[in-house]
Amino acid sequence: MEIITKPKEMQAWSEAARCRGETIAFVPTMGFLHEGHLTLMREGRKRASLLTSSLFVNPTQFGPNEDFARYPRNFDGDCAMMRTVPVDALFAPAPETMYPPGSQTWVEVTELTQGLCGAHRPGHFRGVTTVVAKLFNIVKPHYALFGEKDFQQLRAIQRMVVDLNFDLEIIPVQTVREPDGLAMSSRNAYLSPDERRKALALNCALRAADALYRSGQRNVEELERAARQVLESTPGVAIQYVSAVDAETLERPLAPERPIVVAIAAHVGATRLIDNMILGR
Ligand code: PAJ
Repeated sequence: MEIITKPKEMQAWSEAARCRGETIAFVPTMGFLHEGHLTLMREGRKRASLLTSSLFVNPTQFGPNEDFARYPRNFDGDCAMMRTVPVDALFAPAPETMYPPGSQTWVEVTELTQGLCGAHRPGHFRGVTTVVAKLFNIVKPHYALFGEKDFQQLRAIQRMVVDLNFDLEIIPVQTVREPDGLAMSSRNAYLSPDERRKALALNCALRAADALYRSGQRNVEELERAARQVLESTPGVAIQYVSAVDAETLERPLAPERPIVVAIAAHVGATRLIDNMILGR
């Protein structure tokens, strides 16, 4: 695996590959890899002749009181995991490389980022879409893979690609879960054993809403109530939001027969976790 730290070198690597007729798949990450990340990478491996990834804990997507400084990091471990896939080239820039002094250009997807996590993390999605746009220009992939785990992020990036005419295809990948149902996340490393048990309430809540949906319920308030009840009956879990919305627009109201996503954000102890489910899938 080639490790590349400079944008110009990454661009040259990709340009040379494209000239040879290779196709490039790309999985951007913030590292501390788990099976969710690896699933995206294996999917990318199948799609294209070359697989690239990036490892960059992006400061602009963290709020001033969020966990940027203590976000878990393990560069050597991550490289070892990438080599098992294998990844052909890893782009791992320093923060000052991505945001040199004088940087002042932002990419913002306006409506899709208003609700859900956007309402609770001001500036977060602007940081995400800006860094992903930069990474697309640096890595020049034909395919980029994103997890449904971060559903609003996926929708915002899909919108950005259409709106800004990025010449690539976004490939969504379903959420990878622990055997008991907890969505895999680098932030699960923050949980104590007791919190780890309580964190399962997020998935249980989504499954309660899904069961109600499958029994015929289509009223979004009722679906939210079912999920909410599970979370509220778990001590140590503090709801930030529970929202049932149109799975494409992330808005309400829903026209009949539209796919519904239920999205949850909750604190388990000090750790903020998110999860979501497309109902009836
Ligand atoms: P990170 O949280 O490291 O996630 C990288 C990619 O892995 C994202 O597309 C995310 O949705 C996906 N992912 C994480 N957990 C997953 C799971 N359990 N199942 C399936 N996919 C999963 O998301 C980011 O980094 C950043 O915002 C980034 C896009 C890299 C921009 O900085």
